[in-house]
Order: sequence, then C-alpha cells, then structure tokens
Amino acid sequence: MLNIILLGPPGAGKGTQAARLQAERGMVQLSTGDMLRGAVAAGTPVGLQAKAVMERGELVSDAIVSALIGERLDAAAEQGAIFDGFPRTRAQAEALDVLLGERGRRLDHVIELAVDEDELVKRIVGRFTCAKCGTGYHDTFRPTQVAGVCDVCGSTEFKRRPDDNEQTVRTRMAEYRAKTAPILPFYEARGLGRRVNGMGPIDEVATEIDAILDGAV
Ligand code: AP5
Ligand code: MG
Ligand code: ZN
Repeated sequence: MLNIILLGPPGAGKGTQAARLQAERGMVQLSTGDMLRGAVAAGTPVGLQAKAVMERGELVSDAIVSALIGERLDAAAEQGAIFDGFPRTRAQAEALDVLLGERGRRLDHVIELAVDEDELVKRIVGRFTCAKCGTGYHDTFRPTQVAGVCDVCGSTEFKRRPDDNEQTVRTRMAEYRAKTAPILPFYEARGLGRRVNGMGPIDEVATEIDAILDGAV
C-alpha cells in the first residue's frame, strides 16, 4: 500500500496519471480540484466559497482543502492514496503529515511532473472530459476514437472547465510558482522527492511513474 503525491503545474498530467493508477492498481485518486468542482456543482457552502476563487485561478483556503482531504482519507486506507493537486502550500503539506500520522500512515513518494509552460497552455486549452463518466481527453493529444463519442461509456456529451482559458491558466501557473513549487525542497530534504519528465507522451510518463512505484529506479 503506497501513498504518493503527484505534484506539478496546471496541465502537467496529474489527473491523467492519477486516473490511470487508480484503474490499473486500485489506488484511490484524491483530487482536491475534482472535490471542489463537485462542491461547486452541488452548491454546497464550500462550493459557494470556492467558485469565484477557482474561476480567477487562485488558491482556495488551506483549511477548506485540508478538511476535504481529511474527509476522504479513510476511504483510501486499504489501497493507498494518490494525492492529485494537494498539497499546494507549505501549510497543506504540514496538514497532510498530521492527517497521515494520526492514521499511522506515511508518504512513500512525491513525484513532480516537469513540463514547459508553453506546452502546458496547449494542453489545457485543448482539454475536455466526458460529461457522463469523467474520462479526460484532449483535442490533439488524446482524442476520442470515434469523433464526438466517449471511448469508455459511449456518451456524446462533453464539457470544458471554466478555468481552462489562457488568462486564468497564467494566474494558475503564477500561483504554482509562488506557493507550490517551494514545497518541493521540504520533501526533497526527507528523501521523498522524485522528478519525472512530463513532456513525453502519456505512456512514457506512465512508464517512468510505474518504475518509481515498483521500486525499479
Ligand atoms: P486542479 O483541478 O488541481 O487543477 P490544476 O492543478 O490547475 O491542474 P489540472 O487539473 O489543470 O491539470 P492536470 O495536471 O490534472 O492535467 P491533466 O491530466 O488534466 O485545481 C483547480 C483549481 O482548484 C485551482 O486553480 C484552485 O483554485 C483549486 N484547488 C485545487 N486544489 C487545491 C488546493 N490543494 N489548494 C488550494 N486550491 C486548490 O492533463 C491536461 C491535458 O493534457 C488533458 O487534456 C490530457 O489529456 C493532456 N495530457 C496529459 N498528459 C499528457 C502528455 N504526457 N502528453 C500530452 N498530453 C497530455
Ligand atoms: Mg487535474
Ligand atoms: Zn464517458
């Protein structure tokens, strides 16, 4: 049972790789972005607070996202967790240590997906997901096999995120550089930091991550 963090700027491929690891290894993807989008869609108090912040591309408060992770952590006790987009600040990293420590669990790897900024904008602007089953696609890099039909569930309805426009992406990147990238040394000091070249095709990135999880590198 492994607990891993996938760290990386917007569009680096965290969600793509986390969903694959969940499907292939039964690990549980814990994406604070997905949880917040769920809260926005459901109109919960958290969702009402988060909506405008997310549309600006800024970070939601540490207290809100740490509480969301705390609520889901026990569901990932048996199979191991993939933290996707959390932690994003030093305070969140410390909160995660407490949440895991209370449960006698620990982190195994913190994997940074490194991708150039120009590539990130291309990835985000072309991204869409199936409205029914949530499978992620890309206009160029991961199109559906039959145009307009989801490979997984056959649905013909798709959606795009409101924060996936170039201007908001620039703010999300600035937030990553200012608040999230600085937590890497915190993990490196503990010998947990791993860097993967996120510029390659999805399958190559997957192979590199698998090698880390299997202890091959
Ligand atoms: P969140 O949902 O986490 O967004 P993000 O970090 O900006 O990252 P993305 O989901 O955009 O990218 P990804 O790395 O998952 O890439 P993907 O796999 O989809 O957060 C959204 C917002 O919520 C934040 O801005 C903030 O407001 C709030 N929030 C969330 N967590 C928070 C926290 N902890 N604290 C505070 N606020 C928080 O890939 C992108 C596209 O590229 C896809 O189309 C995919 O098909 C394609 N692709 C993937 N890999 C490759 C590849 N190797 N080659 C080519 N194409 C690829
Ligand atoms: Mg994501
Ligand atoms: Zn689908």
